[in-house]
Amino acid sequence: MAQAPQAKYRKDYQSPSHTITDIDLTFELHDSATIVTAISQVKQLNESTTLELDGDGLTLKSLLVDQQQWNHFETTDSGLKITELPQQFTLTVVTEIDPQANTALEGLYKSDGAYCTQCEAEGFRRITYFLDRPDVLAKYTTTVIADKAQYPYLLSNGNRVEQGEMTEGRHWVKWHDPHPKPSYLFALVAGDFDVFRDQYQTRSGRNVALEIFVDKGNLDRANHAMVSLINSMKWDEERFGLEYDLDIYMIVAVDFFNMGAMENKGLNVFNSKFVLANDQTATDTDYLGIEAVIGHEYFHNWTGNRVTCRDWFQLSLKEGLTVFRDQEFSSDLGSRAVNRINNVRIIRGPQFAEDASPMSHPIRPEQVIEMNNFYTLTVYEKGSEVIRMYHTLLGEEGFQKGMQLYVERHDGTAATCEDFVKAMEDANGVDLSQFRLWYSQSGTPTLNVETEFDPQAQTYTLTVAQSTEATHDQKEKLPLHIPFDIELYNADGSVLELRCNGEKVSNVLDITQEKQSFVFEGVMEKPVPSLLREFSAPVKLEYDYSDEELTFLMVHARNEFARWDAGQMLLAKYIRSNVEALQSGNDVSLPASVVDAFRGVLLSEELEPAFIAEVLSLPSHNEVSGWYKTVDVDAVAQVLKALKVQLAMELTDELAAIYHSLQQTEYTIDHAAIGKRALRNTALSYLAHTEQGNQLAEQQYQRANNMTDTIAAMSAANQAQLACRETLMADYSQKWKHDGLVMDKWFALQGSNPAENVLDVIKQTMQHEAFSLKNPNRTRSLIGSFLNANPVHFHAIDGSGYRFAGEILRELNSVNPQVASRLIDPLLKLGKYDQTRQGLIKIELEKLRAMDNLAKDLFEKVTKALES
Ligand code: TRP
Ligand code: ZN
Repeated sequence: MAQAPQAKYRKDYQSPSHTITDIDLTFELHDSATIVTAISQVKQLNESTTLELDGDGLTLKSLLVDQQQWNHFETTDSGLKITELPQQFTLTVVTEIDPQANTALEGLYKSDGAYCTQCEAEGFRRITYFLDRPDVLAKYTTTVIADKAQYPYLLSNGNRVEQGEMTEGRHWVKWHDPHPKPSYLFALVAGDFDVFRDQYQTRSGRNVALEIFVDKGNLDRANHAMVSLINSMKWDEERFGLEYDLDIYMIVAVDFFNMGAMENKGLNVFNSKFVLANDQTATDTDYLGIEAVIGHEYFHNWTGNRVTCRDWFQLSLKEGLTVFRDQEFSSDLGSRAVNRINNVRIIRGPQFAEDASPMSHPIRPEQVIEMNNFYTLTVYEKGSEVIRMYHTLLGEEGFQKGMQLYVERHDGTAATCEDFVKAMEDANGVDLSQFRLWYSQSGTPTLNVETEFDPQAQTYTLTVAQSTEATHDQKEKLPLHIPFDIELYNADGSVLELRCNGEKVSNVLDITQEKQSFVFEGVMEKPVPSLLREFSAPVKLEYDYSDEELTFLMVHARNEFARWDAGQMLLAKYIRSNVEALQSGNDVSLPASVVDAFRGVLLSEELEPAFIAEVLSLPSHNEVSGWYKTVDVDAVAQVLKALKVQLAMELTDELAAIYHSLQQTEYTIDHAAIGKRALRNTALSYLAHTEQGNQLAEQQYQRANNMTDTIAAMSAANQAQLACRETLMADYSQKWKHDGLVMDKWFALQGSNPAENVLDVIKQTMQHEAFSLKNPNRTRSLIGSFLNANPVHFHAIDGSGYRFAGEILRELNSVNPQVASRLIDPLLKLGKYDQTRQGLIKIELEKLRAMDNLAKDLFEKVTKALES
């Protein structure tokens, strides 16, 4: 490392010295020498006659101020410093860039044959020198010039205003976006596509042209994305009263993309994974993912674009809120319980793990070296939980009043998290002072609950103590305002009315102190408490439930989430006790009463199949690892496997009956059909561990008329290492080797293969014609699944898994730092493992730190991990 990269601090925010009101961009597209001309209208905001522009990897061709060549400037580490400027001027900057060589996929790059851009967070500075910060909002006019035969579609933000032909087979198109926006929302795409078109009439009667651009030949995979887009537009009008504001909405699907998708104004760019689907190529999970991501990017049009962020520390202002909105969208369209369960799994698994790691940060970070490192589960998912807590505290109506005021006050501007809290407070006349701590405090709070029933006084006392352990970034922790949703049940399953001090109280308790007691009156018998209903706050719950109470809640709790959660707590008890048993040389076992509880759910006639499938899904190895200070990787894996096998053995008949009864002849993607497939395939994943396993998996693979069932068969064969695994894998690869996106599912199975020789298999697989380390989807599927979903071999005590990860990371460091920086996360959690493994991980981190071209992204994470 030549010079250690420096952190930026939230407290150092300063408003810009200048603003840019308009920018006129011209792109002359050429593979390795694209010329960008940027003509900006600049206005001085304070006394400074010096303007510092951001720029990264640019070749400056010319610089004019008011059409005159300007020599008062110097290039700096971070861009361009221009001096002796007038108060207001036209700035013309011409730069040359090399999109062909751009493997980082940030700025302007080529994805296969097409040009596209990714500017969030700080990619615009790789296109031209600019005030590349979200509080500078300009109106963009963009002209794109390229070869007409190769690039018939030339796209940018806003409306198409003019086009024309040029010499040498080139053509141009000019776009104008009337909405002022920050540079991170700029987009350009040039290529040859098939276009899937539709239109939408907004509720005020305006017509919007909808266009989805896909690679040629993929038109039959764009329908679900279009349906999802139309559903999103309708939903945002109905639930939030928000309408679309341009005449055109375009989505382009590209194969090379670092993240899921990007909300560029009027021109979303998507990872093709979140657009392309038909029944032969995509699973139900893919379909649901498309709906969620299309919704997410669409909802950003108001929460992100119309109201944007003042600075990047405020990222959760748009991301937490937009995740909350997409979660609500998916819940309103599909199963609320199943959606909630899956969102909570993410918080309790990877988000809690992140908050316990050296990367722990509040949803509004205080310091950042590389902004790309802060598009995290904490900012997105915990951020969404924080928004959900407003909703729990204020109700739908109060929440919507707050939203309305927020949009009204801040439309067309760059806002802060504080502005959002203020709007919620002012619209509802409430004081959220203590609630604000959720923005500044990192770590996961624990709620420890104790109860006492007094039969004489007929009272039931609930004592709640909250505490948050110190995190790597923050020692001192304060008590938070935690909405704690509870219910009390009588033995017959009836619900008690909650009364304190002679008055009826809400079932959402306000926890605000370190320790607090609630005395409920008129309680005749000892009730069973249902605690943290709907996961009303992102906290860990400690309560000493008996098995009987948990099996009771699995049946009697009034909402499905609470039933599922009771099942998970029951499993958690036996996972913990069995890990201990195994460590002291005993066998894994599950009492008949617990097996019966799951049998009861399996046989239930009223529960929806999708929900039953969730109840039967054991927590992941990663989630279980989070329960321990030091995790015994092999013991946890053995226990999870043994419990699965035992449940499979004891429930074989019930599982087989379900499996056969839920067969569907036709494939449809409505929620009922998805749920049936989910339960049937969950049954298969258990049955795979019985005698029938091999035959069932093979048969299902051969008979499948859709990708969901195909992959479920392969996945069962993979996890249970069935004899048919190789045949199925070979057949699939033969069929799909020309389609990288479809092959990703196969790559993920190779990466998570529990076989002893998995590393050799992965190294061979890297030679597969569909694999490339340059493609983020491929890398995440094969390598990411090894690091995240193959715990036994990744953490092999001989260090082979870590060494392999290290090799890949050193290569990716120069190819694509953003992808490398996401891939490294499991290695940052070294503190969770024994001394031997810690030592082995450290060696790999040290090797990275010693690299002389280590990217900022990896530098930030590696140094944090090594300092901890
Ligand atoms: N704003 C995008 C979203 O959440 C996130 C995103 C897409 C992104 N591509 C990126 C963030 C590249 C950083 C870098 O919808
Ligand atoms: Zn987003």
